[in-house]
Amino acid sequence: MILIQFTGLSGSGKTSLAENVCNLLRQNGYQSEIVDGDVYRKTLCQDLGFSKEDRCENIRRLFKVGQDFVESNKIVLMSVINPYEEVRSEIRKNQFVRTVFLDCSIDNLIKRDPKGLYKKALLPENNAEKIRNFTGIEDVYERPLNADLFLKTDVEPLSLSIQKLYNFIIDNLPTNHSKLNFMNPSSCQLPVSFSIEKLQNDLLVCETNLWTPHFNTNRYEGNWTSVSLRSQSGLETDIFSFPDREYKNTPLLEKCFYFKEIMDWFECEKEAVRLLRLGSGSEIKEHVDNDTSYEDGFFRIHIPIITNDEVFFYVDHKRVEMKMGECWYANFQLPHSVENKSSEPRIHLTLDCIRNEWSDELFSKMGFDIYFKATKKQYSDAEKQLIIEELLRNPSEISAQIIAELQSK
Ligand code: ADX
Repeated sequence: MILIQFTGLSGSGKTSLAENVCNLLRQNGYQSEIVDGDVYRKTLCQDLGFSKEDRCENIRRLFKVGQDFVESNKIVLMSVINPYEEVRSEIRKNQFVRTVFLDCSIDNLIKRDPKGLYKKALLPENNAEKIRNFTGIEDVYERPLNADLFLKTDVEPLSLSIQKLYNFIIDNLPTNHSKLNFMNPSSCQLPVSFSIEKLQNDLLVCETNLWTPHFNTNRYEGNWTSVSLRSQSGLETDIFSFPDREYKNTPLLEKCFYFKEIMDWFECEKEAVRLLRLGSGSEIKEHVDNDTSYEDGFFRIHIPIITNDEVFFYVDHKRVEMKMGECWYANFQLPHSVENKSSEPRIHLTLDCIRNEWSDELFSKMGFDIYFKATKKQYSDAEKQLIIEELLRNPSEISAQIIAELQSK
């Protein structure tokens, strides 16, 4: 149970932050709702204006809405200006409330003014379009002295505020907070993003190198090639992975400073690291990669360097929209496929990582149950019989083995 009461001037980034954090929470299996001042002022609070009494009444009503969501196990983001200390501290008395201050200087807000509201608030008295009593201009904004999280939204990038608030929420969730999913997510975005420009600069260094076609030609149609930044032989053209062998950085990686920086962000052992290019109009057919789930002690990370919205990546039959610079984990033990319907190649940086304490902390922040063990499906006798009949149609050594195994259980 948690409700985040925002406080911050108009334009300080409340809505963007709430939307991004809410999406991230949902992707990670949490239920989350936004209670946004702008939205409710058109419905539940349409009778209210901007006097002190009305603003306080507005917040009290929105808190009531939020409280109902909290009771149904939702993480609530109350995105409002919330200018008065009196109401904020009244709300803070509830144990499940945390206060987050989006601190952005008024000078910056006037400069940025994305909705043009400050311009209207600063119009002369006699102008009919002037917005009166605008918070921070003609009306009070009481800076909070005791917020639980301070975010300097005019200094730090949105991605950093998202990461801070997301981590803050996860750290403050009561231990008994239950998630929507009964198992770990099939894919999930990590709370970190990388510079698209720097990624593409390092890609230029690699563009001239040989791109080796993927060895499993049954799995794809068109053009699927890769360049290794870390491989078993230490060669850029080596894309094979044999069990229990060590990996070495390739000479190419030594020239790609940003890729190296990204690798170092992952404080765990790395196996293969490569660039994967799926040509225009190409398709990787649905398949599974065994032992590649977090539960198996392994995680494969994808960072799109060049992509677009005509690339269709499916994991467990759900579309995963990975955008450039974002960082994604997916459980590739589940059926997955990719189709590039665009006229451009799609290029991802992928890192195969070995789970450790550092990654357990990261994944539990993303909502993973790190103690979750995937259990193999148990078949009923009737199901076993059907499988055996199917296998007997094509007798082989392997089907005989599977039949023996099924009969022994
Ligand atoms: S609060 O003060 O009661 O917390 P709330 O967050 O619901 O405000 O609504 C603020 C939104 O109302 C602003 O984002 C802006 O679009 C709009 N607005 C219209 N008039 C004013 C005003 N005088 N002061 C502040 N915001 C206003």
